[in-house]
Amino acid sequence: MITDEQFIINGLAGKKTLEGKINTPGAKNAVLKVLAASILFSDEVTISNVPDIEDVARMLELLEDLGVVVEKQDSKTYRLITSEILTHEISTEISKHLRASIVLTGPLLGRLGKVTFPHPGGCVIGKRPIDFFIEGFKILGADIKDTGSGYEIKVKKNLKGNTIFFKNASVTATENFMMAGVLAEGQTIIKNAAMEPEIVSLGEFLNECGAQITGLGTPEITITGGSLLSGKDKIYHTMPDRIAAGSFVILGALAGKKLEVTNCEPKHLESLLYSLLSAGVKMEIKKDSIIVYGRDSKLTAFDIKTHEYPGFPTDLQAPLAVLLTQSDGQSFLFETIFEGRLNYLETLGRMEADVKIIDAHRALINGPKSLKGREMESPDLRAGLAYVIAAIIASGVSTIHNVYYIDRGYEHIDKSLRAIGVDIKRV
Ligand code: EPU
Repeated sequence: MITDEQFIINGLAGKKTLEGKINTPGAKNAVLKVLAASILFSDEVTISNVPDIEDVARMLELLEDLGVVVEKQDSKTYRLITSEILTHEISTEISKHLRASIVLTGPLLGRLGKVTFPHPGGCVIGKRPIDFFIEGFKILGADIKDTGSGYEIKVKKNLKGNTIFFKNASVTATENFMMAGVLAEGQTIIKNAAMEPEIVSLGEFLNECGAQITGLGTPEITITGGSLLSGKDKIYHTMPDRIAAGSFVILGALAGKKLEVTNCEPKHLESLLYSLLSAGVKMEIKKDSIIVYGRDSKLTAFDIKTHEYPGFPTDLQAPLAVLLTQSDGQSFLFETIFEGRLNYLETLGRMEADVKIIDAHRALINGPKSLKGREMESPDLRAGLAYVIAAIIASGVSTIHNVYYIDRGYEHIDKSLRAIGVDIKRV
């Protein structure tokens, strides 16, 4: 639900006092796709470690609207009964607020032979085209009608397997066509596929339930089509959210005395951890947790260029920029995936960070520079969290509006932060 809640944060003025453990929730960008994949199942799917976030609530609403019966088994486990899918129309109202709704199109087209959907919404991080989806469906033999407000897509009988090449390694397009391929005739080959761990996790679960997908985690994925999947006696355990874990590690380096990020998967965070270690952050990296010794850490400037996995994730670019404002020297920030994902830097500038935006993709940051608390509006999920981190290290009080955007992807963030010593209130 969109609310007008705010966070009021009393900053630490550069002191490094946060201490304790902070848990990594299940990954938003993994669970949303497994929820969409439920359409491929003839019977049911059970999903555990589901984060309690707004985007999950919206996806569940979309599924219910399509005829899926959703049973909440406990606070983190859902059973979806998918024996009947009643409509091929994806709700405009709900998908306006959820970019990930686009990944329902492949499964619905595979199962029902038709799908209608509006242009999806989501974060305000610049252009979010869907041309790869439209082109991909054409290649798999579908007829596309642009209705002005959205699309109507139909196939004569079934989707026909074929080879799809993506100009950019798109995460949701890879997931969408991997799922569409499960119910297509013959082989679907995705070239220049994205390699994010969430895609591998989805593909492995689908294979466990009867799909035939090879090449996961490589740039070429092959799907041999078959029939609907079965989820009887299977549970998908949502993998840890690498972006949440990475954001907490950054917070630990900036404001932690000794902060342990628990239940995470350090091997999914190699590019961040490698950069932080070379910059002088002291960490102990264990099998499923990372201990950050903020007080013992040096922060030296370094350059960052976002890249598809296993490169530096665009979703950690904004939290990392806050760290660069506190690092000694000049850093160069290059956002290569999205345009419009550097606008938040103006707000950091108003907090007295030394930032210079060169263009829509590049910026220079000089540090260290003490930040001053202020009033700000969260423009999207990841920049919103960057503001929270900036407010925590700043002097004085900050008010962050549009907390809804942060709640879209970070589970009970205020509660988790309070437990490690942050003075944060939700009003
Ligand atoms: N692109 C196109 N045409 C398309 C699709 C993508 O040109 O039809 C371009 C995009 O404009 C972008 C590039 O391809 O330049 C890659 O974008 P991608 O498609 O991978 O992004 P996405 O799938 O829409 C997912 C995550 C994002 C994350 C990106 C990149 C979900 C629901 N979203 O988006 O997560 O930033 O991959 O890793 O999985 C977030 O969680 O805050 C978030 C925005």
